[in-house]
Amino acid sequence: MNSTVPGFLWGASTAPHQIEGNNTNSDWWVREHRAAGMERSGDACDSYHRYAEDMRLLADAGLNAYRFGIEWARVEPAEGHISRAELAHYRRMIDTALDLGLKPVVTLHHFTHPRWFAEAGGWMHEKAIDRFVSYIHATTTILDGVEWVCTLNEPNMLALMVMMSHAARTGETKKWLSPTVEGAARPVLPDPDPQIGLRLAEAHHRARDVLGQHTGAKVGWTVACQALTATPGNEGRLEELRYVREDLYLEAARDDDFIGVQSYSSQEVDENGVVPHPRHPDNTLTGNAYRPDALGIAVRHAWKATDNTPVLVTENGIATEDDDRRIAYTSEALRHLFETVEEGADVRGYLHWSALDNFEWGHWEPTFGLIAVDRETFERRPKPSLKWLGEVARRGRP
Ligand code: FCB
Repeated sequence: MNSTVPGFLWGASTAPHQIEGNNTNSDWWVREHRAAGMERSGDACDSYHRYAEDMRLLADAGLNAYRFGIEWARVEPAEGHISRAELAHYRRMIDTALDLGLKPVVTLHHFTHPRWFAEAGGWMHEKAIDRFVSYIHATTTILDGVEWVCTLNEPNMLALMVMMSHAARTGETKKWLSPTVEGAARPVLPDPDPQIGLRLAEAHHRARDVLGQHTGAKVGWTVACQALTATPGNEGRLEELRYVREDLYLEAARDDDFIGVQSYSSQEVDENGVVPHPRHPDNTLTGNAYRPDALGIAVRHAWKATDNTPVLVTENGIATEDDDRRIAYTSEALRHLFETVEEGADVRGYLHWSALDNFEWGHWEPTFGLIAVDRETFERRPKPSLKWLGEVARRGRP
């Protein structure tokens, strides 16, 4: 791949609950402290205070974009009560990124909710969408100069979490599974309920309208793209399964400014459904099959299913202790990504998951970061992969 894409975003991604620390007013904090078998986020990476250092490391390496989130549980600690100080905090983050030459890609919802929202019935409550949109409204006051905004992160995974929270509330189940760790390894999780998916799509569309009226940002949502493929003869089964798991969410993005593609691995579908990742020494720390080619499959499918909506890769990466493997995986994934560009897909950027080794939804073991973090001193230790990705970014092509 010799050509570069003008204006291409080269960056890394994070999510507030996974890095900020002490997100005590969120439903995930409550869950971590109640559910058996879950580790706690605690101070996380203390990025709530150290975000400038995180961003500087990315910018110094040569990256030009940073995806981070605004935490609803902080901005609206009680229903209808907006914290001006927390909004100012996130505005400072945006300004810091801009000053460092990093384009902020701002996520407004990444799996977590304020406690009050969850306790009042979460997404199943009839006022849920109004509540979400009212929070979105509050964020529009600080988004000046932000070009890229993601409303909801992985609504297809969020729909599963809504189902699990509902089951936990009604006493059907006591065990909570981490959506990305236990859930990623095996298809133990059910298909997301399309009714919940449609509700989230409505929330996204209403948020998009508000953002469109009050900001100049490009607006999209980010979908967990599973790069599903059919075993011979099971193409029909693939279509069916892919609709509830993915396409419902991709189709809902057809009028968006971009689609956020998030890809880690690929799975086959046979007559019994999604085939579990077989146990293999090459599997990643989250139990996924090592499939750097997944990104190409995911982007091609997203591009088609959204009727050619511009693609921003908002997450791609690997849970591994071996940084050489991270470089090998990412280098191959980028090669596949740029093949899709040569085929004609409009790809606007690549944001690696993740900037930091962080709290992986109930677990600390799977490390996805370009930067290691000492959990006691919070010292940041950039890995060779950060330098490597920065060089790719400066060159503008894999
Ligand atoms: C995605 C999530 C992200 C992170 C990665 C590994 O599903 O959006 O927060 O957990 O997986």
